[in-house]
Amino acid sequence: MGILVLNVVILAAGKGTRMYSHKPKVLHALAGKPLVQHVLDCTATLRPQRVCVVYGHGGEIVPQAMAQYGAQFVIQEPQLGTGHAVQQAMPHLPDDGRTLVLYGDVPLIQHNTLHQMQQASDGLVLLTVTLDNPAGYGRIVRDAQGDVQCIVEEKDATPEQREIREVNTGILLASTVQLRDWLGKLGNDNAQGEYYLTDIVGMAVRQGVAVHTVQPAQRWEVEGINNKMQLAALERTWQRVEAERLLAHGVTLADPARIDQRGRLVCGRDVEIDVGCIFEGDVTLGDNVRVGAYSVLRNATVATGTDIAPYSHIDSSVVGANCHIGPYARLRPGTKLAEGAHIGNFVEIKNSDIGAGSKANHLSYIGDSTVGSRVNIGAGTITCNYDGANKFRTVIGDDAFIGSDTQLVAPVTVGRGATIGAGSTITKDTPDGELTLSRSKQLTITGWKRPVKQPKGEK
Ligand code: UD1
Ligand code: CA
Repeated sequence: MGILVLNVVILAAGKGTRMYSHKPKVLHALAGKPLVQHVLDCTATLRPQRVCVVYGHGGEIVPQAMAQYGAQFVIQEPQLGTGHAVQQAMPHLPDDGRTLVLYGDVPLIQHNTLHQMQQASDGLVLLTVTLDNPAGYGRIVRDAQGDVQCIVEEKDATPEQREIREVNTGILLASTVQLRDWLGKLGNDNAQGEYYLTDIVGMAVRQGVAVHTVQPAQRWEVEGINNKMQLAALERTWQRVEAERLLAHGVTLADPARIDQRGRLVCGRDVEIDVGCIFEGDVTLGDNVRVGAYSVLRNATVATGTDIAPYSHIDSSVVGANCHIGPYARLRPGTKLAEGAHIGNFVEIKNSDIGAGSKANHLSYIGDSTVGSRVNIGAGTITCNYDGANKFRTVIGDDAFIGSDTQLVAPVTVGRGATIGAGSTITKDTPDGELTLSRSKQLTITGWKRPVKQPKGEK
């Protein structure tokens, strides 16, 4: 069958009491992204006509945090159960097509599983899993022919029903018109006094509507988060999945259990990543790039053959081919390194272009600068780019040599091929090809004596 028009309702009203946090549960992050945002991103891949997020009292920051998705946010107050939660969304959904119910605290549901549900049937489709220990979940009750009869919540189940190991994940897909009808007829005469969404299954069966079940491709897709233990465990599961994706593409990982991806990492051929590295946002590593232990890369592009030594931080920067970075280098936003640049230990670069083959190997701050090619920046060089109110640029021409412990007080330009004597404070532009230095001449005072301490009592 073809795929019908789709609405999505995301339930996110639960208080999350067991997170012991002031933050709404669905805004806690997994892989650097709020739980509900994972669900919204997956939802977007289904191209729904309408998305409705049901949030709870105290969760007002959820609509603000997720404003970019253009979803409808509906408050559920008080919270009288999952059926009541979906009811809150119904006035916002057009009649045509179907409605998919997802959960803001079940973050890792995947497109393929939902797509499989969409293709399964035009009746009621339930996502179920079979567990060794089904405790706490609603059980899927089938008749002798194996047809689904109803879902019974554990607290309402008979001892025989509790033996059933096929359970309700909560995720379901139904005709919007039928869902509206069934929700209107829900009662709360059950062990918890709640309006159970699951009661619509029995109603569908009684009306002769076909009920189909689909299983997720992976068990972790339907894992829900109620506390920090579950959040930590699912984080590790997901990181393992992401690490295996890299391994499958030929990336060498020193230890797949010791890498964290909090965004999208794209790697070329023969990339090697040592232990403890964190990748955030969009990171692209070219062929033969090596990332040393405990480096953190965020929104960065690193070209072919570049070697990043341990403990380097690269944020919102573009690194050219065959560069040497670190150990302990810090590239802050707006850094662009051309091919073959060397940035060594305790060198901080911000909002600067560094030309091909240029080197700053030790203990420097280079900010708001344009550095030419083949420039050598000596140890301890500082660009003084800030007067307390304004930022100014430093320009260093090709082939310049900046002696150690130089201060370049911006705005200032060092000419091409210029040499700056060590220990200089440069406040005016320096000419091409010449040696400029600003320190006073060294002198020796012969016969000078150090002061000596007077022994106590003598005066
Ligand atoms: C529900 C299902 C159960 C299923 C289990 C899977 C019902 C009646 N039972 O049980 O069959 O096995 O999920 O985890 O649906 N929520 C609201 N508003 C409410 C109540 C809940 O938004 O008034 C949201 C919660 O934030 C949560 C989800 O719905 O994301 C599930 O609620 P929860 O109370 O955990 O349902 P369970 O009792 O676990
Ligand atoms: Ca639950």
